[in-house]
Amino acid sequence: MSQIETLDIADWAPQPGDAESRRLAAALEAGKVLFLPRLRFELQQREKRFLDPRWSDRKAKNISYDPVSKAIKGAQGNASDLEDLRHLVERFHQRAVGLIRHLLPHYTTQLRLARASFRPMPVAGRASSWRKDDSRLHVDAFPSRPNRGERILRVFANVNPRGEPRVWRVGEPFADMAQRFLPKIPRQLPGAAAVLSTLRITKSRRSEYDHTMLQLHDRMKADADYQKNAPQQTMPFPPGSVWICFSDQTSHAAMGGQYLFEQTLHLPVAGLYDPQSAPLRVLEKLMGRALA
Ligand SMILES: [Fe+2]
Repeated sequence: MSQIETLDIADWAPQPGDAESRRLAAALEAGKVLFLPRLRFELQQREKRFLDPRWSDRKAKNISYDPVSKAIKGAQGNASDLEDLRHLVERFHQRAVGLIRHLLPHYTTQLRLARASFRPMPVAGRASSWRKDDSRLHVDAFPSRPNRGERILRVFANVNPRGEPRVWRVGEPFADMAQRFLPKIPRQLPGAAAVLSTLRITKSRRSEYDHTMLQLHDRMKADADYQKNAPQQTMPFPPGSVWICFSDQTSHAAMGGQYLFEQTLHLPVAGLYDPQSAPLRVLEKLMGRALA
C-alpha cells in the first residue's frame, strides 16, 4: 500500500471542508506523505538569483528563518541582498503555515511555529557520519532537543530551476518499524537524562520517549540490511510541488535534489485529530508503560 496520498490542490489557502480535512488528517496521522503536485511556491524574477549555493555561509547546512525574531541565519551577502532573501524565506513561512491552517483547521490553535529553512546545497555527499546521513531511512529525532512526544510536522517545496526532482525513499509504517527495532533497544540508564541536562547536552530533560526515538533513528540508519530490504518506495517530488508529513513518524530518506524550502511546525499529541496515532502513544502501547 502506498505511503503517498496525492492531493489535487493548486491554492495556498484551500477550503477543503470538514470531511475532507478529516480524511487528510487521517492519512497524515497514519504517517503518510501528503503530496500536492500542482502547488507551486513561486519565486519572483529578481528572487531567482538566490537559487545558488553561494548564499550559504557554509557553516550552517541551511539558511533558516526564525518566526519569533523574524531574522535569517546561515546566509552571507550584503545587507540589501540579505533583506531580500529574508523576505523570500518569510513569504514561504507564511504560505506554509497558512496552508496547514487551511487544510487542517483543527490544528490551528495548538500549533507552535518553528523555523523555516531554505536549502540551496545539493543533497548528495554532505553527510559527515552515518548518524547524520539523511540518505538513510530514518524518523526525525534530535539529540539536543527532547520533545516528550510533541509532533514534528513539516512542509516542503521543491523550487529547482533545472527540472530536478527532490528524491525521497519513503519506508514502512511507524508501528511496523518500531516492532522490528524495539526488542533491541536498551532502557535509558537511570540518571542519564539528568546528567545530559546538567551538562547542557540536551536543552531540557530527555524523556524515555526521546531516548527510544533516538535509538530508533540510530538503529534504522546503522542497519544496512534494513536500508536495502525494508518495505519502501522511491518518490521523486518534482519542482513546483509541495509535500507534507509528520517527519517524526514517516520513515524517509533524502536521496537527491537541490533547492528546497521547508517549514517545521510543532503540535502537542492532544492537538491531533486522533491522539492515539502519535508515535508516543504507539510506543507506549507496544512497550506497556508511560514514556513521557
Ligand atoms: Fe529527516
